[in-house]
This record gives sequence, C-alpha cells and structure tokens, in this order.
Amino acid sequence: MQPIHKDIDHILVSEEQLKAKVTELGARISRDYAGRDLLLVSILKGAVVFMADLMRAVTIPCAIDFMVVSSYGGANTTSTGLVKIVKDLDQDLTGKDVLIVEDILDTGITLSNLVPMLELRNPRSVRLCTILSKPSRRKADITPDYCGFEVPDEFVVGYGLDYDEHYRNLPYVGVLKPEVYQK
Ligand code: IMP
Ligand code: MG
Repeated sequence: MQPIHKDIDHILVSEEQLKAKVTELGARISRDYAGRDLLLVSILKGAVVFMADLMRAVTIPCAIDFMVVSSYGGANTTSTGLVKIVKDLDQDLTGKDVLIVEDILDTGITLSNLVPMLELRNPRSVRLCTILSKPSRRKADITPDYCGFEVPDEFVVGYGLDYDEHYRNLPYVGVLKPEVYQK
C-alpha cells in the first residue's frame, strides 16, 4: 500500500463513482445553463479537484473564478460559524449565472453566509453544486441545486478534502483511521 492510503480506514466513494457522477453533473449543468453566461465559482482549496474535473465535463461556454473563505481553523474539525473572505473573486458578477462549486455541504453555515453576499453583486442567479453533502449535519437552511453523493456524519478526506492540509490528493473519498486524529 502507498504511504497516504495506509491511513484510510475505508473508502466511501470510489474513484470510478466520482468519475461517473461528475460526467452526469456536467451534462445536467450543460443542459440547464445552455445559452446563459455561466460562471463557475470554486471555493479554495477543498473544491479544486472537483472544479478541475467538473469544468471539463461541462460542454457549454463558461468562465471560472476562485475565492477563499475561512470557516475552519487549522486541524479543527468543527465549524466556527464565522465566514471571512480571504481572497475575493476577480470578476464582476453583474448579469452572470453563478454556480458555486463546493467540495462538501456540511453544516451549511459557510454557504448560507456566502450566497447572500454574492447575491448583492447583481448576478442573474446564484446556485450551488456540491460533490458531497452531509444532510444530517445541516444547521443552516440551504439545499444544494446539484449534489453528487450524500455521506454519513463522518469526517471524510480525499478528492480535495483535507485533514490538517493532508490527504487532498487521494483520488477517492475515504474515512481516516481513528489513530490518525489521536497522533
Ligand atoms: P460547512 O460550513 O459546515 O458546511 O462546511 C464548510 C467547509 O468545511 C467545507 O467546505 C469543507 O472544506 C469543510 N468540511 C466539512 N466537513 C468536512 C469533512 O468531513 N472533511 C473535510 N472537510 C470538511
Ligand atoms: Mg470547502
């Protein structure tokens, strides 16, 4: 076994499942946004892997942009409820159809704060596409418009998601062995 794979207790979503789902989401988005001024907005860093795959599964013209928001600090695995824009978008949102591309919708606190902030910039629409969702953890009133997989209330890593900035490069979504947290 390769070094980073050895810390994984079990796989929740395989590389093949992710690939098939991203293709399906890209096709749906391409149909739904045909003729629109689509801007994919990715929240760094967790959503970077999903963004890179999803944008290539989208077959209509689109632009991309990135922002950094913070809600989790360091190795902390619980949400603080605070959202700060650390790096803002480069592009003007006026008239654009914004689709937020996220790694995981957990409590929903981050996005329920961010969406109204983006709506103030006069986009035509703001919708949400997340590859993972933990519905049992939801604290804010927010539902994804596009969702890849619902996962149980476990801390997951891989496909962009980290624990203490590691494991983002795993090609699947998995659950860490408990002893990794206890180190
Ligand atoms: P929320 O505000 O609670 O919905 O979550 C905000 C962010 O927390 C997500 O975009 C992730 O970056 C991070 N997060 C939530 N759950 C997990 C997890 O299980 N593993 C890794 N990161 C997570
Ligand atoms: Mg994130």
